[in-house]
Amino acid sequence: MPKTIIVSNRLPVKIQKGDQGLEYQTSEGGLATGLGSIYKEGNNVWIGWPGLYVDSKETEQEITTRLQESNMSPVFLSAEEIRDYYEGFSNETLWPTFHYFSNYAIYENELWEAYFRVNLKFCEEVVRLAEPGDTLWIHDYQLLLLPQLIRERLPESSIGFFLHIPFPSYEVFRMLPWRRQLLKGLLGADLIGFHTYDDMRHFLSSVNRIVMLTHTNGQVDVNNRRVLVDAFPMGIDYQNYAATAAAPDTIKKEVRFRTALGEVKVALSIDRLDYSKGIPNRLQAFEMFLERYPEWRGKVSLVMVLVPSRDRVGRYKDLKEDIDERVGRINGQYGRLNWTPVHYFYRSFPLNSLSAFYRIADVALVTPMRDGMNLVAKEYVASKLDQRGVLVLSEMAGASRELLDSLQINPNDINGMVDAIHASLVMSESEQERRMSNMQATIRKYDIHNWVRVFMDRLSFIKEKQDKMSTQ
Ligand code: G6P
Repeated sequence: MPKTIIVSNRLPVKIQKGDQGLEYQTSEGGLATGLGSIYKEGNNVWIGWPGLYVDSKETEQEITTRLQESNMSPVFLSAEEIRDYYEGFSNETLWPTFHYFSNYAIYENELWEAYFRVNLKFCEEVVRLAEPGDTLWIHDYQLLLLPQLIRERLPESSIGFFLHIPFPSYEVFRMLPWRRQLLKGLLGADLIGFHTYDDMRHFLSSVNRIVMLTHTNGQVDVNNRRVLVDAFPMGIDYQNYAATAAAPDTIKKEVRFRTALGEVKVALSIDRLDYSKGIPNRLQAFEMFLERYPEWRGKVSLVMVLVPSRDRVGRYKDLKEDIDERVGRINGQYGRLNWTPVHYFYRSFPLNSLSAFYRIADVALVTPMRDGMNLVAKEYVASKLDQRGVLVLSEMAGASRELLDSLQINPNDINGMVDAIHASLVMSESEQERRMSNMQATIRKYDIHNWVRVFMDRLSFIKEKQDKMSTQ
């Protein structure tokens, strides 16, 4: 019976070293939920890094055995591989480049070599587990070389690839010294998916100008193989977010949060701490809002949740300091004994706490400088059961193409953000309801299950087309 193999840098599990040994927590992330229906079934399997450094073969064995019970197969990384492949090439070369922060990118051959070697390591694990007829679905920028590496070992295999972050314009992409190898790596797939039409267009333009291959309707012929390139905007598990927002535990938490916050309006932001998320700009806008609209002082608080991320990478450490300083300044200048302008949390929260935050928030500020999609924007909308609340959304997020009833801002335009914050706080209830229900209709329909289904269908479609071409 053919199976599906999912491959991503991280497995959908969080493993921590606790007092009683290793603690396992299954991930509640969007991708994990969406693909849960696939990898947990039959012989299907998810291959990836378990997210921690393991220093003994016994512990590796213990983790492997435990994960196998839930259809996961770990790829362990050495301390050097974590530094050079994960923190290095993935997050100090590709991540900044693909998010248009090229000035943050470092170009070091040693990191590139580690990236290549780790992609090869993932390939070994795929080849070990794959059988003829299996479908492989590879995820994200950490594994751009994997499709072609697998193609060389298993030429007949059916390979889908999805990029969860933006694909930059050719002018930016071509700054990478390894641009040809990266494109060739990706073109080993049968189907290459992006969140938006623009990402897809940028990719096709790079393919055209760097490896000299043209496309017809998103189809590129590579060595007699037809590769399909398409846009698949990722959705969320809408029913799950709506149900969590209605759960008694969530409502109890909301009541507790409300008592603690007092009778203020709430602006909310939830992100991983990352320079692509536009956090300093957002704080600047909130500060300017308080300065420009003194009547709102004491009447609105910003609740800002920042989830720690990649904290050993220099740029992330610098950003953390910048944010700490800005929050301190705003609270120092405007705070009162009975009112805190910015409630700042640097940690992660369980789903029902996030849901309580979504419920309580009058405004969500989603203001990235660049974002492949941004699922927080969609989660906020799905959690607004009474359809009150306003989404302020950066036009640089993939989600802005679908959430047309948000108040869209350019995160570089601080004045524009100040106006949007004000407009949200004074928006009539009927307008809030109209906008919210339009957005809900869209994301309810194009949810994560639909996304998985459409991607898999397109992959079988292109595979069948290739089979027909080869028998003609
Ligand atoms: C983004 C990337 C994912 C990544 C996640 C968390 O959403 O697209 O591939 O897993 O960030 O980052 P981390 O470095 O902690 O895996």
